[in-house]
Amino acid sequence: MKLIKVYCSVVFTLSCLYSGARGARSCGRFPPLFGFQVDRYLGRWWQLEKTMNYREMMTGKCYSINYSRDPMSVNKLKMRTDYVTRVSNSPNTMFSTLAMVSPQFDPSHFRYAMSAMPWMKKNYRVIATDYENFSIEYMCNTNMLGNAEESVWLLTRERHPSEAVRLQAKQILQVLGFEKLKLYDADQSCKEKPMRMQDQSMLEWLFSV
Ligand SMILES: *[C@@H]1O[C@H](CO)[C@@H](O)[C@H](O)[C@H]1NC(C)=O
Ligand SMILES: *[C@@H]1O[C@H](CO)[C@@H](O)[C@H](O)[C@H]1NC(C)=O
Repeated sequence: MKLIKVYCSVVFTLSCLYSGARGARSCGRFPPLFGFQVDRYLGRWWQLEKTMNYREMMTGKCYSINYSRDPMSVNKLKMRTDYVTRVSNSPNTMFSTLAMVSPQFDPSHFRYAMSAMPWMKKNYRVIATDYENFSIEYMCNTNMLGNAEESVWLLTRERHPSEAVRLQAKQILQVLGFEKLKLYDADQSCKEKPMRMQDQSMLEWLFSV
């Protein structure tokens, strides 16, 4: 047991600590989101709350993602992640590709691959959304100790959503059985800027209003 823990702390430091703190749970089995319309889901979403994610937390704040269709493939989406780095307080963008695992039967199930690390594939799914106000995304993997490592992201269309939208989203989290999972407010304290245009340099974008 001790050995396993040491191994964890070298290889997966944070995820092991994290699962240890949460205790044993198994992955939630969510059925395909009935009638999910991926085209209505596209566009920008802001993080409102999420389970603890040390890597994201230490890297940056003010995360938003923007889903769009992949012009090269009908069964893929592009995912653009914008955030502000903790180290230099400057905006950064990450691009990834999402494959729809089963576009016919379950278009709410995505397989994520980062451009920089294409071998690291992760599955997650949209488990609730009204397209206009909020969304809940869920990822779960069973770790070496047999514990579920669950990640939940509560996303909203507006960066600072109304109280009504917050309440509704939280109620849905409860209904889905996530009341025991600790969710943290995502830091959205940065000053909002429009997204950088493709033909805009980083400097131009930084100094634009
Ligand atoms: C999201 O990305 C698409 C495709 O690049 C772009 O057309 C759209 O304006 C972006 N949405 C927002 C809200 O920035
Ligand atoms: C989104 O929230 C607004 C404000 O609370 C509400 O008027 C609207 O009906 C909501 N949209 C959906 C699809 O529930």
